This record gives sequence, structure tokens and C-alpha cells, in this order.
Amino acid sequence: MDDRRPAAPRQLGVQLSLVILVFIVQFLVLQYWFSSDQELKSLREEKLDNVMSTHEPFVRAAVMYLPPAQADKFITQLRWFRQSWLTMHEYEPELWRTDIVVFTSTSLIELKELGCVENPRSNVQEPNKCIVIADYKKASFPEFNYDFADSINVAAVNHPWVEIYDWVLRTDIDTFLTPAFATWKPSTMAVGFGQYSFDGYDTNDRLARIMKDLDMQPAELDNIGSTWYGARQLVQSCANMTMEMMLYLNKNEFTQEEKNAEYGAKGWPRWH
Ligand SMILES: *[C@@H]1O[C@H](CO)[C@@H](O)[C@H](O)[C@H]1NC(C)=O
Repeated sequence: MDDRRPAAPRQLGVQLSLVILVFIVQFLVLQYWFSSDQELKSLREEKLDNVMSTHEPFVRAAVMYLPPAQADKFITQLRWFRQSWLTMHEYEPELWRTDIVVFTSTSLIELKELGCVENPRSNVQEPNKCIVIADYKKASFPEFNYDFADSINVAAVNHPWVEIYDWVLRTDIDTFLTPAFATWKPSTMAVGFGQYSFDGYDTNDRLARIMKDLDMQPAELDNIGSTWYGARQLVQSCANMTMEMMLYLNKNEFTQEEKNAEYGAKGWPRWH
């Protein structure tokens, strides 16, 4: 007789839980639905912007450093890169131009043979060309001799011949352009993937601590690679800052022992 009375609050509890559960599921489904819809939408917008930009003039340059001391090795690499550039060009929009800009410190006959010239692009209509800046002065810093620094430094120098470019691709020479690059203009600067912050190592924490020392904003990206593609001035300021940071890290975050040639790659993959 009375046995149904105590059951009522329990049923109410079950019903309430069910209602709450339904709300939670609904919330999650809606959240999923709207977020994926929004991502799709922005992806679609980005694609549309990209397609529209292929009907407008766009002048870009692949900027690279060729160490004259190892010219043979790097000219072989440049031959491959150049070939991929020629192939890529077959797919390029009519109003787009893509030059190769090679920084080096001497006139090399092999570059002339490849059709690379020592004069700048004169206007945005001129066909794609391979340009050599042969009077580049190596970045030399006291107590700091790192050959690869020049491959970043060339992207930092605002040489007058580079001013004509809307966008710059900072790349090493041992790379290729694919046909997809022919029509690719992302909405923001794009960078490749590199690997230096590994699970189980404190490399990222250490970088975060250094950024805090320098009053910088916390980083939201890690493992940034060495290929950068973006608006010229932005790439130039990133390269400039990278150079400053290289000097800073070399001065403050490596011991004398770590800087010795004999130490070699012992610091890898933690701090190298
Ligand atoms: C970076 O930019 C500053 C300010 O324009 C300049 O003084 C400095 O020389 C640049 N550094 C490099 C490595 O280009």
C-alpha cells in the first residue's frame, strides 16, 4: 500500500538524470555539428579566396642561399629545384609570377648556364626568371660561426631586388616545388613541419622559459620547420627575429663545452 510512496522521489531522480543526460548529449551533438560546419565553411571560404586570387597579379620569389664554397653540391641541388620550378610553371595562373632568387657571394658560370641572370625583375609582367644576387655578404658575427645561418639571413635582408615581391618562399635548395604550389596562396603565412621538441624531453619547456625571460608571448606552435611561405615583409621580420634569437641562444643558452666542435651532436635531440 505505502510501498509506492518512497519510489516516487527515486523515479523523479532517474527522470531528472535522463533529462540532464539528453541535454548533455544534445549539447555535444550541437557543438560537434556547428564546429565542424564552421570549419568546413572557413575551409570553403579559404578555397574560394584562393581561387579568386588566381585571377589577380601575384608575384612571389623562392629565396635561397647558395654557399659558394660548396658550389658543386648545391648547384646539383639547384638543378633539381629549377626543374621542379619549370614544371610547376605549366600550371601557374596567367597573372602569377614565381622567381628563384639565389643569394651567393660570387658569379658562378654554372648559374649562368642554368639561365640565371644577375639583374632584377623589372616589372610584374616579365616572365618567371632565375635571379642571382652575387654580392651577398655572409652574416658574420663574432664568436658565432654557423654556416646555415645564412640560409635564414638571406630571407631577412631586404635587398632592393627583392622589394618587388608580394610573397616570399624561404626554402633550402634541396627541395622541390610541386604543381600544387602553382595555384596556392593560403590566407596566412604557412610553415613546414620540423622536429626538435620530442616527447619525453624538456626542450619545449626550456624554450617557453626563454620566451618568458624575453617577455615574449607564449608560443602556440612548436616544431616549426625551415620552409616558410608568406607575405614578404612578414617572412622578412620572422627571419630577422630568428637571426636575433640564434645569436641570443648561442650567447646565453649553450655552455662553452656544448659549443665546442668536439661536442658535436651529443646534445641532440634535447638541446643541440
Ligand atoms: C633586424 O632588424 C633590425 C631593425 O631594422 C636591424 O637593425 C638588424 O640589423 C636586423 N637584423 C638582421 C639579422 O637582419
